[in-house]
Amino acid sequence: MKPLKILLLGSGGREHALAWKISQSPLCEKLFIAPGNAGTAQCGENVNISFNDFLGIQSLCLREHLDMVVVGPEEPLVNGIVDYFKADAALKNIPVIGPSREAAQLEGSKAFAKAFMQRHGIPTAAYREFDASNYEEGVAYLQAHALPIVLKADGLAAGKGVIICQNHVEAMAEFELMIQESKFGTAGHKVVVEEFLTGIELSVFAVVDGKSYILLPEAKDYKRIGEGDTGLNTGGMGAVSPVPFADAVFMEKVRTRIVEPTVKGLQDENLDYKGFVFFGLIKVNDEPFVIEYNCRMGDPETEVVIPRLQNDLVEILLAVCQQRLSDIYVQIDPRAAATVVAVSGGYPGHYEKGYPIEGLDILFEDDMLLFHAGTALEAQQVVTNGGRVLALTSYAQSVPLAAMRSVTLLDFITFEDMYYRTDIGYEFRKERD
Ligand code: AMP
Ligand code: GLY
Repeated sequence: MKPLKILLLGSGGREHALAWKISQSPLCEKLFIAPGNAGTAQCGENVNISFNDFLGIQSLCLREHLDMVVVGPEEPLVNGIVDYFKADAALKNIPVIGPSREAAQLEGSKAFAKAFMQRHGIPTAAYREFDASNYEEGVAYLQAHALPIVLKADGLAAGKGVIICQNHVEAMAEFELMIQESKFGTAGHKVVVEEFLTGIELSVFAVVDGKSYILLPEAKDYKRIGEGDTGLNTGGMGAVSPVPFADAVFMEKVRTRIVEPTVKGLQDENLDYKGFVFFGLIKVNDEPFVIEYNCRMGDPETEVVIPRLQNDLVEILLAVCQQRLSDIYVQIDPRAAATVVAVSGGYPGHYEKGYPIEGLDILFEDDMLLFHAGTALEAQQVVTNGGRVLALTSYAQSVPLAAMRSVTLLDFITFEDMYYRTDIGYEFRKERD
């Protein structure tokens, strides 16, 4: 078959990992990345178009005769890029990998996701939803709720919309701020109040085609800025795969109780979804519960999941478009992978941009991959251009060894005020490692 011209939307480490994988495929003739970063420029051609600029994306697709669009971040999906393509006579034959606007509400609306799970018997924390119309009832519900209480802004809130309250006064204050004071804008006008679950979290990834699904390797990410999971939440400071506590018995429960009912639920409700599903799970005792759905791959999880996938990714994406995923046999690298994210000093608060990054050329050992996130090319020099700057992935025989290797290698790279956690995968370390 004729190789494809593919457009990938996004500019993070996730997109560099996807671009790296797509560009290796003999089924890819040409890869564009919009807007991309200094790393994706090594895998294809960066185009300076925002991933939310549907008109700009449309004209690029038509000008370059593109055959497929792969969407990295959630925003264009929640904003309806799949529907936009389907509604346009010139674009409708270009498949966009991702859910329709309606199906993307699995990520875009917590209330939608919770109701979906309830309809399909998918295990998740007990909850109620409130808005201005039943505000007083919400206050009474909070007063009687066991502690801690989880409050979630219904809509997208840049990863900040979840608040875990340790007492009732705090919960009622946050509830009022969201609904009455628009703390998260319209995203918080509806609030999901949820039971707190105690357990360990992991991320499971499926690719779905509307009929069937495949599972990609699972991963665990590290969200806090500080060593030992302390300090502020970030976009993600590192990730590991496989997840040692996700054994075969547990993963079978994930498949039968969560992944399969989700795929069937989408199909039964005629929700058009051809793309990646990210299940944010928590293992409570030995049972899996869904904390959240995302309609995209995770970042930095992609930087360990994609390196462990041995299949041709473009072949998988084509199978998604043609509803042939049931023919795909997923092959996974048995080695462990760990990624450690180097961030700008001050992140996740204020940080500077534009610092030169040195040492990028020392690399390329066999068992490592260097993915760019917030980087840009200025006059032939790679400079910092975001909070998360680089994700260094290593392979090894075990998760802690892979993480240790990434930390050692990051020592060769420098930029002003560079910071990274040295303890990614710490809970899986054993004496012999
Ligand atoms: P989310 O934005 O839904 O991923 O939530 C952010 C984080 O809040 C999750 O990664 C969990 O660590 C935590 N969280 C969310 N919901 C719950 C819950 N019901 N119980 C315990 N922790 C939760
Ligand atoms: N690493 C979590 C996320 O991508 O949402």
